Amino acid sequence: MSRVLVTGASGMLGHDVCRVFSKDYDIFPFSHKELDIIDEARIREVFKELNPDIVINCAAYTQVDLCEEKKDLAFKVNSQGVHNLSKMCDSFNAFLVHISTDYVFSGKSKSPYKEEDNTSPINVYGASKLEGEKKIQDTFDNYIIVRTSWLFGKNGKNFIKTILELSKKLDVLRVVDDQVGRPTYTKDIAQGIKWLLDSGAKGIFHVANEGTCSWYELARFAIKEKGIDVEIIPVDSNEFKRPAERPSYSVLDTTKFKTTCGRSLRHWKDAVRDYLSYLKLDD
Ligand SMILES: NC(=O)c1ccc[n+]([C@@H]2O[C@H](COP(=O)([O-])OP(=O)(O)OC[C@H]3O[C@@H](n4cnc5c(N)ncnc54)[C@H](OP(=O)(O)O)[C@@H]3O)[C@@H](O)[C@H]2O)c1
Repeated sequence: MSRVLVTGASGMLGHDVCRVFSKDYDIFPFSHKELDIIDEARIREVFKELNPDIVINCAAYTQVDLCEEKKDLAFKVNSQGVHNLSKMCDSFNAFLVHISTDYVFSGKSKSPYKEEDNTSPINVYGASKLEGEKKIQDTFDNYIIVRTSWLFGKNGKNFIKTILELSKKLDVLRVVDDQVGRPTYTKDIAQGIKWLLDSGAKGIFHVANEGTCSWYELARFAIKEKGIDVEIIPVDSNEFKRPAERPSYSVLDTTKFKTTCGRSLRHWKDAVRDYLSYLKLDD
C-alpha cells in the first residue's frame, strides 16, 4: 500500500483528504503543529522517518484578507514552504500533490479558465499561491497541481456556515452577487484528487463541483434548503470593501480533469444538499 504524507491535515480539506484516502492508502497525517512546511529540517526528519511515496500538501496560509498585511508570511508558507516540500519530494523520489486556487487568475475572463490560460493574480494570496506552483514546476515534474475554488466542508470556516450563523441573528442578509465561481465540497474534491492519482496523471488540473453561481445564489440556495425565514438581498461587491480584492469571475474549466478521470464531480447544488444534511446532525 502506498505511503501518503498529508500536510495541513487538520485543515478543512486536509481532514477530508485523510478520510477519503485512508480506505486505499497508508495515511500519515500531520497538522501544522506537527509539521511546519517552512521548517526544512523538520520536513527532512519526517521524510527520513516515513519515506513517503506520495505527499498531499493541504497546508497553506489561507486568510485571504490577512495576506495583504502579512505578505511575508503568505509567501513563506504558500511559496517557500511549497518549494521545501517539492525539493524533498524530488530527493526522496516521492510524488507531490499540491492544492492551488482559482485566485491565480484575474477574474476578468468571460469564459471558464483552462489550465493553460494566463495567470494574473489580483491579491497577495493569489500571488503567493501562484509562486508556489512555479516553485514546484521549476523543481521537478513528479507532481499534480490541483486548482480548486470556493471550498466548503465539515471541518473549517466557510461561506455556507457563516451565512447560516448570520441567519440566526439577522432578518435581512446582504450578499454579493457580482462574483461568480464554482462552490466545491471538500469531500468531493478529495475524491477527485484520488481519481487523478489513481489515473497516473501529472501536471495541472482544475477540479471543482459542476455548475456556477454567485455568492448570493449560493446563500439563497442554502437558506432555502434549510427552510430558514430570512430575506436575502443581492448587492455589489463595492458595498463590502475588503482588504483583498476578489476576482469577479473565477469559474474553472474542469474538462481536462473529466477527460482524464472519465467522470466528473456532482453539481454544486447536490453537494451543498449533502453537506447541509450532515450539518443537521449537530446544529
Ligand atoms: N478555502 C477555499 O475556499 C479554497 C479555495 C481554493 C483553494 N484552496 C486551497 O485549498 C487548500 C486547503 O485549504 P483549506 O480551505 O482546507 O484551508 P485551511 O482550513 O485553512 O487549512 C490549511 C491548513 O494549513 C495549515 N498551515 C498553515 N500554515 C502552515 C505551515 N506553515 N505549515 C503547515 N501547515 C500550515 C493550517 O493550520 P493552522 O490553521 O493551525 O495554521 C490549516 O490546518 C489550500 O492550499 C488553499 O489554498 C482553498
